[in-house]
Amino acid sequence: MDRNSIVLITGAGGMVGSAVRDLLCRCGYERVLAPSRKELDLCDREMVDGYMSVNRPEYVFMIAAKVGGIAANQADPVGFLSENVRMQLNLFEACLKYKTRKNLFLGSSCIYPRECPQPMKEEYLLAGPLESTNEGYALAKIVGLKLARYYHRQYGMVTVCPMPCNIYGTNDHFDFQRSHVLSALVRRFVDACDEGRPDVTLWGTGAARREFLHVIDAAEAIVFLMERCDDSDIVNVGTGEEISVRELAERISRMVGFRGDIRWDHGKPDGMPRKCLDIARLSNAGFRHKINLEAGVQRTIEEYRRLKAEGRIP
Ligand SMILES: NC(=O)c1ccc[n+]([C@@H]2O[C@H](COP(=O)([O-])OP(=O)(O)OC[C@H]3O[C@@H](n4cnc5c(N)ncnc54)[C@H](OP(=O)(O)O)[C@@H]3O)[C@@H](O)[C@H]2O)c1
Repeated sequence: MDRNSIVLITGAGGMVGSAVRDLLCRCGYERVLAPSRKELDLCDREMVDGYMSVNRPEYVFMIAAKVGGIAANQADPVGFLSENVRMQLNLFEACLKYKTRKNLFLGSSCIYPRECPQPMKEEYLLAGPLESTNEGYALAKIVGLKLARYYHRQYGMVTVCPMPCNIYGTNDHFDFQRSHVLSALVRRFVDACDEGRPDVTLWGTGAARREFLHVIDAAEAIVFLMERCDDSDIVNVGTGEEISVRELAERISRMVGFRGDIRWDHGKPDGMPRKCLDIARLSNAGFRHKINLEAGVQRTIEEYRRLKAEGRIP
């Protein structure tokens, strides 16, 4: 990829896509295409074909997806599976037809089995049943990875496949339908603090363990892999460090100055018990994250407080 290449980023209006777009622009890429969903609805096959035939990107970052937390996934498994698969099929087909040089398909650590040995190595894919709460989304991501592999084998088209852990940070969603665990916790505790509430009730038991990567580091890893990889194998992307949801909640509550009680609603699901990635492949390639969890959470708290003060929280 050189600074003059035509680069397409899908999902550039979202958290990860906007961070990748900003990074490429900072690195001096001058021909970055970042269409909104209105300009390029990936579920619309004709629109995708038309856009690719006119714009002819050489490199495609497939970052757009229907994304959400446990509640959204449980409410609409059909949408999470079918919309995501449809977007992927349309884009892979057009990349082959219009002969892109290289693509990147962004996966997710939820592709690994529910009872996966920890830390999760890339070869554990499909070694057991998936976590049921987001099975539709995970299946769609697995289809994307397999398509990447098959297009490479059958047609020689390379699609780099990073598998990130939980990502958080700038431009994350704070509304309860779409937010993920870290942004949801930040909102809960900041709001409880502002309103002087005596307690906060959280979903599950708090025992689930998760790994978090700041979106600025995620974007760095994505561009790093796109520039260096020439195969369609999976590469885990994370910090290699995990924390329980309970510890994370306690840490955020302390950082925002919440003094009330934390209660756990055991009737609600925890999701996968543990999700920690083996990042040896990424580390051996020479990548390491820069923003630690403490600094990233502090930044997220400040961003949420600023958005709230500006009346920009739905
Ligand atoms: N967040 C995480 O913790 C995490 C972890 C691992 C992997 N990932 C992956 O990272 C990627 C981006 O996630 P994110 O957290 O940045 O989510 P996000 O903020 O919700 O961004 C998703 C983007 O995809 C776009 N999109 C959805 N459906 C589309 C369609 N039919 N046509 C065109 N664009 C469409 C959205 O457009 P609208 O704004 O119009 O809806 C939005 O710009 C996803 O592939 C996700 O699987 C995320």
